[in-house]
Amino acid sequence: MYTKEIEITLTQLAKDLLSHLQQQQLLQSIDETLDALRRVISYNDWRYYVQSEPVISDYEYDQLFAWLKKLEGEHPELITADSPTQRVAQGLTKEFITVPHLVPMLSLENSYNADDLLDWDRKARESTGLPEIEYCIEPKFDGASISLIYEDDRLSRGATRGDGVAGEDITTNIKQIRSIPLSASFSKYGIHQIEIRGEVLINKNTFKAFNDKRIADNQPPLANPRNAASGSLRMVDPNEVAKRGLEAFLYHMSYHNMNRGQTEPDALKTHSGTLDLLSTLGFRSPAKEKKVVKGIDKVIDYVLQFETERDNLPYEIDGMVIKVNDYDLQDRLGMTTHHPRWAIAYKFKARQATSKLRSVEFQVGRTGSITPVAKIDPVPIGGVTVGSISLFNEEVIKEKDLKLGDTVLVERAGDVIPYIVKSVADLRDGSETDIVFPTNCPVCHDKLVKPEGESVWRCTNINCEAQVVERMIHFVSKDAMDIKSFGESNVRKFFLLGLLKDIPGIYELDFEKIGALEGFGKKSLTNLQAAIEQSKTQPLHRLIFGLGIRYVGETTAKTLANAVHHIMDLQNWTEEQILALEDIGPKVAGSIRLFFANNDNIEMLNKLAALGINMENTKRSTSEASGNLNGQTFLFTGTLHKLKRSDAEEMVEKEGGKIVSGVSSKLNYLVVGDDAGSKLEKAKKINTIKILSEDEFLQLLAVNS
Ligand code: IVH
Repeated sequence: MYTKEIEITLTQLAKDLLSHLQQQQLLQSIDETLDALRRVISYNDWRYYVQSEPVISDYEYDQLFAWLKKLEGEHPELITADSPTQRVAQGLTKEFITVPHLVPMLSLENSYNADDLLDWDRKARESTGLPEIEYCIEPKFDGASISLIYEDDRLSRGATRGDGVAGEDITTNIKQIRSIPLSASFSKYGIHQIEIRGEVLINKNTFKAFNDKRIADNQPPLANPRNAASGSLRMVDPNEVAKRGLEAFLYHMSYHNMNRGQTEPDALKTHSGTLDLLSTLGFRSPAKEKKVVKGIDKVIDYVLQFETERDNLPYEIDGMVIKVNDYDLQDRLGMTTHHPRWAIAYKFKARQATSKLRSVEFQVGRTGSITPVAKIDPVPIGGVTVGSISLFNEEVIKEKDLKLGDTVLVERAGDVIPYIVKSVADLRDGSETDIVFPTNCPVCHDKLVKPEGESVWRCTNINCEAQVVERMIHFVSKDAMDIKSFGESNVRKFFLLGLLKDIPGIYELDFEKIGALEGFGKKSLTNLQAAIEQSKTQPLHRLIFGLGIRYVGETTAKTLANAVHHIMDLQNWTEEQILALEDIGPKVAGSIRLFFANNDNIEMLNKLAALGINMENTKRSTSEASGNLNGQTFLFTGTLHKLKRSDAEEMVEKEGGKIVSGVSSKLNYLVVGDDAGSKLEKAKKINTIKILSEDEFLQLLAVNS
């Protein structure tokens, strides 16, 4: 679709449009301007979402998009169905209507080893009488399958798989996936109507960021990217779907018919040709990932090699799909009632296993939250032995109807923490018992409370031993005071032995007694002593984060540290003053206020000050005077290549800029790395935010320094 010449023309056209916009001038006419804007925006959607190689900055893209919207607002009669503005939906979906697929969506037969593949190939050769067959191999994407229909080049319908015969019409939600073109030039190849299939995915980074946010909001994380993708496709609010950062791979043509008098293009004689054609037409297909080989031995080599790459991919795959490449041959092989004989899935090593749920422990977190943790008979899953699995909260136990003694299905997808998919109720023999959630704290025995609107039970006794220990573990941890060689096990050990009872106690340890303990040689003792001593000069934000104030993460800790000269200043701050700080909402402000209003906490801080721990914002006076990014707010999202995220943040702070935690109108710059997700989407909607690539960020620093 985009030849080199067209690409150059469209890039030039983008520049022309931008300069016309600056001078507030149309091109020759309104029609020409609208057409140019649509073509340039669609091209840049493709560069960004399909190729992952943008050619204009996000800021420029947003300007062009806003201009198109404005012009269409002034001339609604000129809006076209495939205008990029038409992805944006109005209102909620009332119901998803069931629609029949043009061709039933069959599933694939599974294979698990080389023998299965040899067997499958042998049958195919026997039935066709061919000595060797050409295969196309591609990833088996682990997402939600969809079917798209294009008629006269326009996307006319998007549907879920449903029962294979009919699915649900989710066209509005499908349009939120920016890598799916609203129109594609099928007619250039004579195609009138086409049904294509593919998989909707959420990439691992986007999924992780999404779950981190859910956990921070006390909501149980979604199980895996697959569930997240299929759940997202059925959300009633298309604008929410847009925020999920969904991606799509299209990998199968199930039906097509040609315009009258047109002959089929050669590309449509093979599966690999179809993938290439889809890619040419602007779709994201596995055109690059696929491999065409002759003979099953090469298939086996490729699938085994690909399995080793599995964890390096940005999205989840659960195997490979091997397809007979030639469509005529596919037709000759035909299908059984369940699956085609011309394709087979090769499933990678299972990341699921069953085990017995033996007990549930209730752990008390640093803020008193009670987390049920399932103890199962240890099972190996994807190379790791799993014995403990967080159940997050009481609701999860109820929803999954878990009982002690149940056989449970456990999954550990890629980088995702293990979770219980379900209990296998059919295997119950009546000896299973209910899981009883405690009414009192398992450690201090105080009554547990569940504040309204929250799903987590809490122990509110801040002197509860479990909380005290967890707070100390947090205080010494890497992201807080970073006391090397201290760690969780030493905190627990010293606490049990009565050598450590609270945070100030970390600086009053009796090293003679510790030296007498087993496993503490002279060297480790000196190291520990030095690390504790060193931590006294840590910057203020690390101390604030280390205090473990509820809802105060690293970014908020930095905001607070930057706002004061001395930590005790916060004692006199009102909730309103705290609220006025960047990115701090009422929940966080209330929690900070509560912390500094508590005498025990003030006493602890006084003790720490007396022990020589840095309580001051040493950067404030210097950076404010000299910083070139003074008062500017920054946020980083996605994977950076040249810089470590923490180093980049430090560079901003050195120049007097601030790091904020979320996208809001108070944000000045969003620096975007690879696989950026919802933050980028959100930022694009706020005109005042400047969106920078990593290189643009470095340039900005260079210019400013
Ligand atoms: S081909 C008639 N190719 O796996 C064959 N399927 O059990 C149509 N899947 O429902 C499917 N990646 O959701 C095909 N590269 C791929 C695939 C793929 C994932 C899913 C698809 C299908 C299931 C098969």
